[in-house]
Amino acid sequence: MYEELTQIHEKCLQCEKCPLAKTRTNIVFSDGVANPKLMLIGEAPGFNEDKQGKPFVGKAGQLLDRIFAAVGLSREKDVYICNTLKCRPPDNRNPLPEEKEACWEYLKAQIEIIQPKLILLCGNVAVQSILGNVGGITRIRGKWFEPEKAIVNVHGARMMPIFHPSYLLRNDSREKGSPKWLMWQDIQEIKREYDRI
Ligand code: URA
Ligand code: URA
Repeated sequence: MYEELTQIHEKCLQCEKCPLAKTRTNIVFSDGVANPKLMLIGEAPGFNEDKQGKPFVGKAGQLLDRIFAAVGLSREKDVYICNTLKCRPPDNRNPLPEEKEACWEYLKAQIEIIQPKLILLCGNVAVQSILGNVGGITRIRGKWFEPEKAIVNVHGARMMPIFHPSYLLRNDSREKGSPKWLMWQDIQEIKREYDRI
């Protein structure tokens, strides 16, 4: 598994398939352990990720780490983290369809090689890429989607859409029913399933 991942990572490092190759500082391929149980797919690298070449290292990433830590999970032991796009879109704009299409090769390979049992789709961009038009994240977060629901081959993974941590950073309330409260419900369900499988 590691050798195959290294090969695709090396290929990705040379990638010039879309114009983001010209503006990136670093490719942001993955972080965490290649754990066949749990993968998280985010949107695209931001400023800090582009600088460091690692996903989810800025404010949103730090919040993500705290969310995992709250249920005893960590990227060092339990989760493989990657993004829909491996390069930063200028000014953090949303990924364009042609960028997602060009970059799909790499995410496809990551899923195929690791074959995770569970995939967390973090935010609307990741949901769109894997599940297609299934509605906004507010309506579908916290629900498990069976592998047949994906518009791509997820190799048997069950998927759960979850809020993006950037969204949680913009919505500070912890009241019952707030995005942070809902995320707490979701991460507990994810941990239950992680322990069960
Ligand atoms: N947001 C994402 O979706 N991915 C990152 O890697 C960082 C911020
Ligand atoms: N909109 C998004 O794109 N992501 C979220 O997590 C919530 C709202």
